[in-house]
Amino acid sequence: MRLADRRILLIVSGSISAYKVLELTRLLRKSGAAVTGVLTAGGARFVTKEALAGITGQRVHDDLWAAEAEIGHIRLARLPDLVVVAPASANMLAKMANGLADDLASTILLATRAPVLVAPAMNTAMWEHPATRANMAALTARGVRLVGPGVGAMAEPESGPGRLAEPAEIHAAIEAILAPEAGPLASRHILVTSGPTHEPIDPVRYIANRSSGKQGHAIAAALAALGARVTLVAGPVTLSDPPGVTTVHVETAREMLATCEAALPADAAVMAAAVADWRVAHEASQKMKKEPGADAPTLAMALNPDILATVSRHAQRPRLVIGFAAETEKVVEHAIAKRARKGCDWILANDVSGEVMGGDANRIHLVTDEGVENWPEMAKAEVAERLAARIAAWLG
Ligand code: CTP
Repeated sequence: MRLADRRILLIVSGSISAYKVLELTRLLRKSGAAVTGVLTAGGARFVTKEALAGITGQRVHDDLWAAEAEIGHIRLARLPDLVVVAPASANMLAKMANGLADDLASTILLATRAPVLVAPAMNTAMWEHPATRANMAALTARGVRLVGPGVGAMAEPESGPGRLAEPAEIHAAIEAILAPEAGPLASRHILVTSGPTHEPIDPVRYIANRSSGKQGHAIAAALAALGARVTLVAGPVTLSDPPGVTTVHVETAREMLATCEAALPADAAVMAAAVADWRVAHEASQKMKKEPGADAPTLAMALNPDILATVSRHAQRPRLVIGFAAETEKVVEHAIAKRARKGCDWILANDVSGEVMGGDANRIHLVTDEGVENWPEMAKAEVAERLAARIAAWLG
């Protein structure tokens, strides 16, 4: 009952995925939360007032003027501990970003001082449109929390980001905001790195790798869901910042190291970033030009700092330091050697010769001082949850 007595105002705007909020509401009530439903005109096209009232066990509000007579939009806005907009349509996000207040839902969103979590759902083109990008940037800069959207099959025969996050995911994001102190990692600080690094060649070119950041971001989210205070140092990725996580964006390996060192002390560190081993020794200050008849340039490389090894041998070394080993052959053998060489406690080794980088699944071999554990292939989110639970058990 991690959400016992917490009050959630659930705003449902128009999307075909709105049926999922009935399951979300069931999960929230099971965790002890009181849920008040608000329907926009669009939301009411997909979920009936009666269904939402039935599952929340409360009167559903859908009209500004009727609500005024009964309870008042200001009171509705002040009551909750958290306002959740799920699904959040493109139109709803645009209204929020611009402070419009032309119906009950948008008026509550402008009047509330409670934290706000949005779970967007829309067609991929709408999600990727510069207008929605700008609206999301404005909202997240203002502290609005985001869960999803997921990638996958949607109502249209097209696949890409835009799909409403699953009810369990939205529930976890709500718990991470409202009840972090109730998790087993409460009061722990954990540092996580994720994504690739970009090493500049000149102002317009860089060296990168195929890391998507999916595994590292999922680990940060899973740790936060267990109550940890997480600092995520992320290289350039297209993922959104995980809810409830302090995310610092960096570009190069050297920036990543400096940010990690500044984030210490920590109880544990998980280094999931695919840090570039080398950078260009002399970054050109102007764009390198092709001179007619000249040969292709040779790039001299310099060694980047090893962040995992540096943190493992740091004066403020976290009690538990965990690295990854991306290998294409002799996976376990190389991982055992890497663990010793880097001075970390655990290594999660994976074979990256297939579809792991950028993909959604991972097959892990966990190397510790007690030996090697072979995990079956599972979704990156599951790897993250399993690892977070192991870290919680180890930290005690
Ligand atoms: N790592 C790091 N800093 C680097 C290179 C790697 O922190 N400059 C970390 C990664 O985040 C990962 C671990 O070290 O946790 C192993 O990364 P991997 O790329 O597998 O190993 P490398 O050190 O690059 O070794 P090799 O190229 O020999 O496989």
